[in-house]
Amino acid sequence: MGTEKVEIFDTTLRDGEQVPGCKLNTSQKLKIAARLDELGVDVIEAGFPISSPGDFKSVFEISKLVKNATVCGLTRAVRKDIEIAAEALKFAKKPRIHTGIGTSPTHIKYKFNATEDQIIERAFDAVAYAKTFVEDVEFYAEDAGRTRNEYLAKVCTAAVKAGATVLNIPDTTGYCLPEEYGQKIKYLKENVQGIENVRISCHCHNDLGMATANAIAGVMNGARQIECTINGVGERAGNTSLEEVVMILRQHPGLNLHTDINPKFLFDTSNMVASEMGIFVQPNKAIVGTNAFAHSSGIHQDGIIKNRETYEIINPLDVGVTESAIVLTARSGRAALAYRAKKMGYELTKLELDSVYTEFLNFADKRKEVGDLDIHTIMEITRKNH
Ligand code: KIV
Ligand code: ZN
Repeated sequence: MGTEKVEIFDTTLRDGEQVPGCKLNTSQKLKIAARLDELGVDVIEAGFPISSPGDFKSVFEISKLVKNATVCGLTRAVRKDIEIAAEALKFAKKPRIHTGIGTSPTHIKYKFNATEDQIIERAFDAVAYAKTFVEDVEFYAEDAGRTRNEYLAKVCTAAVKAGATVLNIPDTTGYCLPEEYGQKIKYLKENVQGIENVRISCHCHNDLGMATANAIAGVMNGARQIECTINGVGERAGNTSLEEVVMILRQHPGLNLHTDINPKFLFDTSNMVASEMGIFVQPNKAIVGTNAFAHSSGIHQDGIIKNRETYEIINPLDVGVTESAIVLTARSGRAALAYRAKKMGYELTKLELDSVYTEFLNFADKRKEVGDLDIHTIMEITRKNH
């Protein structure tokens, strides 16, 4: 049986860039958009055109530049927003307008001071108006994570009737449990009229550290698009991380789902976005953190040296990392020391290794990490003493 495709909707340049300190100028955005296109994302959300002249310009320029991906612009359910987004997207080969409105009781009461029926009308009107400019219209039900499923299905049915091609179900506040989010998607698949012609999209935030788990629960229950960002950057605790969902689907062929992302570009793309945004990646970040393929305890190092698969479920080369790192610390054993020494040109007999190892531990106890220069020094000291 062939596997089904999950589309990757990258929102690094919109939801990712909303973060304090992440601001990018147009030329940085163009550089990142070109890389995302090469990486193989299906949709690039390039910005929120009405929000500022700079964002309009970025969406406009990205639309002209991008060759393969759909280029998307965000709007509220407001006519002026939709007109400006359509203008910014007018040169895109594949334009998409992403419009929507808050649907949870909190949003309806405090943001809109409206009734549920009024929100349904506004959702319908926004999608129908966006359809007068572009064929591809994605509807988002903001705070869907805290919206009753029965009401959410009604709003989504209205959006589909108005012509939405994609239904985005955001867990805006990162509140849902994976099972709950998965059940929400399943419920919509079963209860939204006309759903068979529409793609459901997962848009999950990471406030409780569950953005990736929730997106995966979504696709396991029938969603076929994931909205995510490079390095998981985004509002507050961030969005679903692109590299994580791509590798989860790849490492679990039993799910029968795939993406068109070229994983070999993941590490470089992560570095590029981190340096352009000036937001550095935590070392223990899955897939792209500097420690993701680094081994420092003696037991693990011994295993890795014998066979990489003892402690690695991903070949680092697959994501563009040249090799696993064996980091020498006071927890390292003889095998790791001999391995590193050999790489540096020192072939040690068993007896030599014993004395070098004793000296190594003296060094290691005083440092966080023992580097190549330290190894040269340890070799000299050991030679002098014997
Ligand atoms: O988190 C969210 O609800 C959003 C929407 C605007 C799509 O980013
Ligand atoms: Zn969001």
